[in-house]
Formats: sequence, structure tokens, C-alpha cells
Amino acid sequence: MGVKICGTGSAVPSRVVTNDDMAKIVETSDEWISTRTGIRSRHYCDAEAGETHRTLVRDAAERALEAAGITPAEVGVCLVATFTADTCTPSAACLLQADLGMAEDTLCFDLNAACAGFVYGLHVAEALLPAAKRPYALVVGADVLSHVMDFTDRTTCVLFGDGAGAAVLAWREDYPQLHAVWGSRGDDTSLYAPGAGAGEPSYLHMDGRAVFRFATEVMPKCTKEVLEDAGISADDVDRFVFHQANKRIVDFAVKKLGLDPAKCEGNIDHTGNTSAGSVPILLDEIVRAGEVGPGSRILMAGFGAGLTWAGALAELV
Ligand code: UT7
Repeated sequence: MGVKICGTGSAVPSRVVTNDDMAKIVETSDEWISTRTGIRSRHYCDAEAGETHRTLVRDAAERALEAAGITPAEVGVCLVATFTADTCTPSAACLLQADLGMAEDTLCFDLNAACAGFVYGLHVAEALLPAAKRPYALVVGADVLSHVMDFTDRTTCVLFGDGAGAAVLAWREDYPQLHAVWGSRGDDTSLYAPGAGAGEPSYLHMDGRAVFRFATEVMPKCTKEVLEDAGISADDVDRFVFHQANKRIVDFAVKKLGLDPAKCEGNIDHTGNTSAGSVPILLDEIVRAGEVGPGSRILMAGFGAGLTWAGALAELV
């Protein structure tokens, strides 16, 4: 018994912020950002247009449910992976329950594994589904990084964007188990955002070079471990969906593992790093572009603050 992905959705805010726009805020250039990261633009929530973390989560979730062809009342587990929700409590998952009218006995909670959160969430949802009231899980990854950026720090603020992605998992006795791996390294503080009690603004702080070293260690490692766990080779995977933090990190992993680059294309050029939104937004883009379809096997991998990392192989219905 296990799960398959039966619908995806995503939402990014309307405001597009180009690298030239960033160069008006901090001392940087389109040339530096695009050659070091692959990013050309990102999206920021526009408060005047009513765009918030909550609206992104709702829009992505609605699109995923519509694609899955199920109603909110059929959802048994509702997880939102995030560390930038509008409120610490109620959780973004509870707000989503209210917005979509999900049943009161839906398991709703937020999960914080930063950029690895969505992939963590797939595994957590699969584990919970056998005990849930209904056999569908809505897993959302969403972050509004523009709310936690220090716009005087050019080493971080140019990298991130806002967005949400969602997937509906269907659990059935005859579906395969997810092949998933995960890890955390809590003693590494190279990427952190202080909480309410820290007495300082909750800006994201990052030692970019240290995180780069970590990412190039764990991305190939966890991809390889998922393949080993599933007992398959990279050729058996239809598409790799890697966390979009820096195109150079993905290129490194692709080269190290000898993967076909055409199966690993990203979208960081127009999204920036959307943290927990990154993997499910890219997943939804390739589904909607028809790059993958029923029966496709997709290997997803993410890493981020915690430090955390996770990989999972899932099949589309
Ligand atoms: O999902 C969360 C995970 N986050 C990540 O995965 C990020 C991982 N790290 C990275 O992607 C890269 O380390 C960065 C993109 C953050 C930085 O790239 P880098 O090639 O490692 O650059 P660097 O930190 O070695 O800095 C090179 C130079 C420095 O100047 P000096 O010391 O050589 O004179 C920086 O001050 O680039 C300078 N620099 C900038 N210049 C223009 C740093 N940020 C900027 C900027 N614009 N925005």
C-alpha cells in the first residue's frame, strides 16, 4: 500500500521583480546574479493586490484539487510546509481548511523543514494516510521569502522569491510505497531565521558558501539513495525535480550523477528560490507543460535550513 500523485497546482504572486530591479535596491547586477545563480527574476507578494501567504496557499491548493478531480471534503490530511506563514497560529493548514471548507476531522498542521519541507511533507502524509478519515492528502509547500529578507544584504536578498505549490496524494492498497530518504543536521547554523523570542528581526541569514558546500554534498547523495532504495537506475526515472536554490548546484548534481540534463531542467530563472514552494511549483509546471503524465516516475529532492534534506520517488496517476 502507498500513494501516487493525482493532481498538482501552483501559484506565484503577480509582481515580477527583475535583477535590474534588485540592482536599484542593493549593489548588484543582472550579470552577477544570473551567472552565479541562474536567476533572472522572481515574484513578490503585492499587499495592495491582496496577495499574502494565505492566498498563495489557497490558490495552489484549489488548482491541485481541481486537477485531481476531488472536492475539499474528500481530503483526510492537509499539510502546509512553510516557515513564513502569515500567522504562527492558526497554522496555514488550518486557514486552508477554513478557506476551502474541508471537514473538521481533517488532519491539519504546518511542517517546518524549510526548503526540504514539501518533500518531507510527501513522506509524512503517506505515513498518516492509513490512519486518516479519507484517503487523500493535500500537501502544500509555500513560502513568502520577501517578508523575511534583509533588503540591505545583497548576499541573500537577490536569491529568493515568493510562491506556493501543491500536490494531492491518493492512498490505495495497490499503490506502491514512496521511496523516500531524509535527514537533518541541527548543529549547523549556516542558514537560519530567528523566531519571535530572539529579540531581533526574523530576517533570513545565510553563509552562502557553507550552504553551497552542504547542498553539493546532499543533493547527489540523497538522489543516489532514493534510486538505491527503489532498486532502479536513473534511466528508469522520467523526470528529476530538484530544489531550485542555484542552477550551479543542480548542474553539479547532474554532472556528478551522470544524469540526462534534459530530465533535470529547472525554473529558477523566473522564480528565484521559493523555499518550500520550489519543488512543487516546478512539479506543477512540468505536469501542465505535458512533460510528464500518467505513469511517469518523478524523483524529487530538496535541501535547506535546519539543516534538512529529503528525496522521494513518486508516480503520477
Ligand atoms: O534554499 C536555501 C539554500 N541556499 C542556497 O543553496 C544558497 C547556496 N549558496 C549559493 O548559491 C552561493 O554561495 C551564492 C549565490 C549565495 C553566492 O555565490 P558564490 O559564487 O558562492 O559567491 P561568494 O559568496 O563567494 O561571493 C563572491 C563575491 C564576493 O565579493 P569578493 O569577496 O570576492 O570581493 C561577494 O561580496 O561576490 C560578492 N557578492 C555579490 N556581488 C554582487 C555577493 N553577493 C553579491 C551580489 N551582487 N548580490
